[in-house]
Amino acid sequence: MSPVRKPLLEAVRGQRQPRPPVWIMRQAGRYLPEYRETRAKVGSFLELCYSPTLAAEVTLQPLRRFELDAAILFSDILVIPDALGQKVGFETGEGPRLEPITPERLGKLTPDNVNHHLEPVLDAMSRVRSALAPEKTLIGFCGSPWTVATYMIAGHGSPDQAEARLFALTQPEAFARLIDLLVEASIRYLVAQLKAGADVVQLFESWALNLDEEAFRAQVIVPNRRIVAGVRAEIPEAAFIGFPRGAAGMIAEYAEKTGVNALGLDYAMPVGFADSALPPALPVQGNLDPLRLVAGGAQLEERSRAIIGGFANRPHIFNLGHGIVPQTPIENVDRLIRIVKGG
Ligand code: CP3
Repeated sequence: MSPVRKPLLEAVRGQRQPRPPVWIMRQAGRYLPEYRETRAKVGSFLELCYSPTLAAEVTLQPLRRFELDAAILFSDILVIPDALGQKVGFETGEGPRLEPITPERLGKLTPDNVNHHLEPVLDAMSRVRSALAPEKTLIGFCGSPWTVATYMIAGHGSPDQAEARLFALTQPEAFARLIDLLVEASIRYLVAQLKAGADVVQLFESWALNLDEEAFRAQVIVPNRRIVAGVRAEIPEAAFIGFPRGAAGMIAEYAEKTGVNALGLDYAMPVGFADSALPPALPVQGNLDPLRLVAGGAQLEERSRAIIGGFANRPHIFNLGHGIVPQTPIENVDRLIRIVKGG
């Protein structure tokens, strides 16, 4: 008996599909009433991430409602700083809050306990694997080192990452140590996710914006390449989606130098530019503006069809260009999936 086909994984590995497979960044989340209901059962957001049964349940919720081709494990990129020993909290309505890193605090962080600390997340992954239909792809993830470092250095999210950019320039040794720690922790964590059942892992470089080309090479390309190579040293066939949000003119170099299998494109990336800048066989994922999904109507269909048409000659995975936002009407998600599936 031949194994069941997984169209989304096949697209990541370079095989064009008759219709683009689809998943939605941040598909498990607050736009779903069933998510909000589960979320209300626990005190804190991290408690939800570290509860294997609830995290598995929340991961599967969007697949019960929509004809998605993949599940993405419910967790967060900031479980890594938490596992390294930096205090992380999530304030409702305010986003993440961390105790900002100092060179002294940095000395106390260690990657040794990462997979022990993240055992509940890996347990959730195994549970999802057992419950998921075999034709669905299971996606694991971590934040890329630069993006995670921006939160660890500032202690919160920021529009321009000024604290982290300045830290990298003024305290290069401490910064290099922080990136080394994150690379090491991410390799161990992703290897464990793949062993627990993930088919592919996505590297969320959500803050690849605001970097000059030299900083982009040093902060984005090099650490992402080290992670890809480090994971493949243990699991040679490991599949990666790289999502360098805001990479702009650096996308081709990012794809080539990091060795990711597929490239996630943000919504500011012109479809024609990406299609001509990237090698013709390179799979891409994206790149609908999440606010088009909020607004719905004719523009949603027109823009989605333009994206599908623009990437028709290469393997393409349909997705948003960034995460779905909480105010998204569920009926628009239904409509989008029907558009992509050809309904
Ligand atoms: O995609 C999924 O469905 C899986 C779950 C997932 C979450 N966060 C759940 C979450 C994933 C893949 C992430 C990634 C993540 N987390 C990123 C990269 C992707 C991106 O959107 O850029 C980043 C930068 C974070 C950090 C983070 N986590 C922020 C800035 C916030 C607060 C703002 C916000 O979007 O809510 C979080 C909290 C968070 N992570 C929530 C969820 C569902 C909301 C918290 C809650 O429900 O109480």
